[in-house]
Amino acid sequence: TDMFTYDPGFTSTASCESGLTYIDGDKGILLHRGYPIDQLAEKSSFMEVAYLLLRGELPNKTELENFETTITRHTMVHEQISTFYRGFRRDAHPMAIMCGVVGALSSFYHDSTDINDPKQRMIASHRLIAKMPTLAAMAYKYSTGQPFVYPRNDLSYTGNFLRMTFSVPAEEYVIDPVIEDAMDKIFILHADHEQNASTSTVRLAGSSGANPFACIAAGIACLWGPAHGGANEAALNMLREIGTVDRIPEYIARAKNKDDPFRLMGFGHRVYKNYDPRATVMQKTANDVLNKLGLNDPVLDVAKELEHIALNDPYFIEKKLYPNVDFYSGVILSAIGFPTEMFTVLFALARTVGWVAQWNEMISDPAQRIGRPRQLYTGPTQRDYVSVDKR
Ligand code: CMC
Repeated sequence: TDMFTYDPGFTSTASCESGLTYIDGDKGILLHRGYPIDQLAEKSSFMEVAYLLLRGELPNKTELENFETTITRHTMVHEQISTFYRGFRRDAHPMAIMCGVVGALSSFYHDSTDINDPKQRMIASHRLIAKMPTLAAMAYKYSTGQPFVYPRNDLSYTGNFLRMTFSVPAEEYVIDPVIEDAMDKIFILHADHEQNASTSTVRLAGSSGANPFACIAAGIACLWGPAHGGANEAALNMLREIGTVDRIPEYIARAKNKDDPFRLMGFGHRVYKNYDPRATVMQKTANDVLNKLGLNDPVLDVAKELEHIALNDPYFIEKKLYPNVDFYSGVILSAIGFPTEMFTVLFALARTVGWVAQWNEMISDPAQRIGRPRQLYTGPTQRDYVSVDKR
């Protein structure tokens, strides 16, 4: 049985070679195709980053325009999809809906699923990137009882998503550039993060040759958990529950108490043993957005003070626990007007770019084989069957 390396949680197993994303967890560095995340977040757009991850280089102006046009061409979903939504309860969690509808896309696109043809893989990838905003907005609309809003292709990727989410037919909807910018930045910060649980799930599902839409649905299911993408929803709920700065010590004590399962949500990371570089940008964006919108959400003060106290506490110092990407994102999303249930859906929307890029990289890798981990067997040794009346 000791033929195999025992590595629960895969802390020391590289499952693939990848040229997409580099992380140095000790230094707090994150690069996409060599470009630092803070530069991409400050200077580029989500569509540029999508192109970069999918194609390997930043696009020039014409390439970017062509890419945006291509994505735009796929923003509509089959009308039958809206019937599919109506099968869900109105109070269904939008991540539950997303697992279902994205999986269901596999039954709509049989023409882009010859995964050995790079052109068809690209079409499936474009479809997924283009349709996620439409599907995410529909999940939101369904929960509020408002009518679905069709995409508008004269708008930016992010502007179109905001309009599909927040507009109603009765009123003209004006996209606030501050919100559009912040949303685009949040998408960039979530676009890829090498072999995290959901990306590994997409790769593992894809390694059997499965339909790409079904593989992304598997990734969405994995992302939902509170230890992964679900942490952004859990983090804001926690900050709201804490409510005021004077209650922070109580929660810090709980997080340190080994008999209490409570953890500080939005804190800690498998790879980062330093400040998550995405959290740095996120904190700055949270400040900017609230300032520009003239909002004063006490939850931001709670978050900053919680961070300050935790970073000076021996427990967090010793265990190298720092705020991660999910710690400040909720403050911004809440200021934009999203309910907490939508937070992980937004993560899924953005991470779809990383998922499809990683899936493409895997399928085109000559070393690619079906993913098939081994185990250390701990069950009984061989024994003979005993009939039920003799047990
Ligand atoms: N609060 C209190 N203690 C913590 C926390 C936390 N947030 N995170 C880790 N620890 C402690 C943990 O109890 C353990 O202590 P000990 O060694 O005494 O048993 C030690 O730190 C190491 O933790 P671990 O669970 O072995 O580490 P891991 O690499 O398996 O888990 C993690 C990483 C992110 C799941 C974990 O830090 C966590 O649960 N954080 C809260 C949830 C969260 O914010 N997740 C988002 C991750 S960022 C990106 C994304 O969204 O996916």
